[in-house]
Amino acid sequence: MITGLDHIAIAVPDLHKAIERFAEDFGLPLKATEDVPEAKTSAAFLPIEKSSIELIHPLNGEGPVQKYLDKKGGGIHHLCFRSDDIEADIERLKAKGYQFLSDAPTKGAHNCKVIFIHPKSCDGVLVELNQPMDH
Ligand code: CO
Repeated sequence: MITGLDHIAIAVPDLHKAIERFAEDFGLPLKATEDVPEAKTSAAFLPIEKSSIELIHPLNGEGPVQKYLDKKGGGIHHLCFRSDDIEADIERLKAKGYQFLSDAPTKGAHNCKVIFIHPKSCDGVLVELNQPMDH
């Protein structure tokens, strides 16, 4: 079941500058920065009211976010719904015809299982599902 809007991710060409904008100009607290090699990104999380702004920047100048920046220069990249049972949600959505970018969830930021739904299944919006891993 989808239980909340976990974050909205913005692809940024200059992570430091973007963190300054959201932290200093907009006043959001900077909770964490994290490299996510699996996604070839560096991410910064700035929480607001049970959700977050996630700033994403390519790791080592490569990967899907680099391609996005090359094409668009920056912008809203994806939104992420929090799930309390990601496998069940994947199964349910696959049965409805949704296409995913991978066959199974992978490890994302914040020790979460994540998977992306293909934008063509969601009117051009890249949608991520995540579920915190129990430890
Ligand atoms: Co994300």
